[in-house]
Amino acid sequence: MTVKIIDKKAPDALVVPLVQDNRLSDLLSDIAHRAGVDANTLQNDFRAEAKETLVLYEAGHAGRRFYLIGLGKKCAFSDIQTALRSFSHRYKSKLPLRLGVDLRHFQLQDIPRMTDAALSGLSLGLYDIGRFRTSPAPKPAPLFGSAKSELDILVPAEAIAPAKTAAQRAQIFADASKQILDLMNAPGNYKTPLMLADFVAEQAEKSGFRVRAVHVENIEKEGLGALYAVGKGSPNPPVLLLLEYGAKTRKSKTPTIGLVGKGITFDTGGISLKPSANMHYMKSDLGGAAAVIGTFMVAARLKLPVRLIGAIPAAENMVDGLAVKPGDVINTYAGKTVEVTDTDAEGRLVLADAMAYLLKSETPDVLLDLATLTGSIIRAIGTQAAGLFTSNDTLATALASSGDACGERLWRMPMWEEYGSDLKSDVADLRNYTGKPMAESISAAKFLEHFTAEHPAWAHLDIAGTAFGDSEFAQTKSATAYGIRLLTEFVEQWVASRHPSSND
Ligand code: BES
Ligand code: MN
Ligand code: ZN
Repeated sequence: MTVKIIDKKAPDALVVPLVQDNRLSDLLSDIAHRAGVDANTLQNDFRAEAKETLVLYEAGHAGRRFYLIGLGKKCAFSDIQTALRSFSHRYKSKLPLRLGVDLRHFQLQDIPRMTDAALSGLSLGLYDIGRFRTSPAPKPAPLFGSAKSELDILVPAEAIAPAKTAAQRAQIFADASKQILDLMNAPGNYKTPLMLADFVAEQAEKSGFRVRAVHVENIEKEGLGALYAVGKGSPNPPVLLLLEYGAKTRKSKTPTIGLVGKGITFDTGGISLKPSANMHYMKSDLGGAAAVIGTFMVAARLKLPVRLIGAIPAAENMVDGLAVKPGDVINTYAGKTVEVTDTDAEGRLVLADAMAYLLKSETPDVLLDLATLTGSIIRAIGTQAAGLFTSNDTLATALASSGDACGERLWRMPMWEEYGSDLKSDVADLRNYTGKPMAESISAAKFLEHFTAEHPAWAHLDIAGTAFGDSEFAQTKSATAYGIRLLTEFVEQWVASRHPSSND
């Protein structure tokens, strides 16, 4: 699909996103006039409610039509993105080869953001989740979205240059997001830890970042005992992926940001086996890794002026004669011993080792870990935000505001000391599960805190509710690619403002 930014000569089929504000009735009368229909009737029949869609055919002009799309009252980034994604998802088999989106009626300063949101929404709506279907629905060719198709984005003449930059950005995000959706939606047999390593190597090559894999022999030899323990019940060996973007060594002027992502390619729960009803959804237990990989892809393609270092502990949490058992005591990379009271609390184990490993060789200015860590965060705050855990107020504010800006929201949770007290073990330094079915997302964060080497700017994001879930885009739960926008936005803001790395 070719994308063009123009200021006139709209194609016959034109998408017009409209906000429910005081300019709506004027805009509608103008459209009614252009289409040759009655203005009052149109104003009555189309109210620009979120995702409301109305197709208007222009009398006497074959092929000329308007797709009016309601954005509701707000026009925040995510409202536009979602409305246009929903539209292209619903209409994808009907849209003509050449389609226009008219943004000329928006405020000049909003045009780049609108362009980014509109284009990434339209593009994501074309995502096809049925990668493994052998009989796809018959597609009438030629179709919008195919190689030969064209999307014209109409903006005021003065905004063409910034809109072009925004469109490139949108395409970078959309391309990365679609690859990440494929990764998350893929079944466990298509993404073992080593397959994940191959995927990352391929993306690294294409986007321009570096990756190194620590394989199982060295995981054991180097003392990554927690990652080893989680992976040892599977014939598909674990791997630790180390990602790097930007300068090879730390330079004082460019900030270094560390990103760690949970990469459990399938979580059966291990010997503390999960119930079977929803177990197939545990193919999504690498949402943290997915967000980190996606961010590296985008950062490299946008050539962000930052240095990123990443660690992805990948393992398959299986049930087996060799699997780690409840009560087993393991050695972690940080040197602390852990009593594994629940083998289903495996995420914190692999993250503990990955964070300690990353911090052993250097100290990034900021350290973030992302993980589909607990069902508890879903019970606490649902699917509209991920849980944000940090003791650093500056970092909390920066992360939350990045989330608000792109619609990938974060909600701060407490980190009070008391929540960590139940992690004491009689036989080891720590246990991985408190044994009490309460505040589990917080005790998980308190567990991780032990492995951050008291880093002053560490935050943990529990994305169990946001990475994978119900939506209008699929029959059952599916991937969201949550975190890529959020992390990129955060990195850009952090670099721009050169925040101090701690509270002091
Ligand atoms: N991967 C799960 C968390 C999860 C649950 C993600 C639902 C997405 C949807 C994690 O490894 C897990 O099993 N957590 C346990 C923790 C418990 C044993 C303390 C949980 O949430 O039940
Ligand atoms: Mn688990
Ligand atoms: Zn898990």
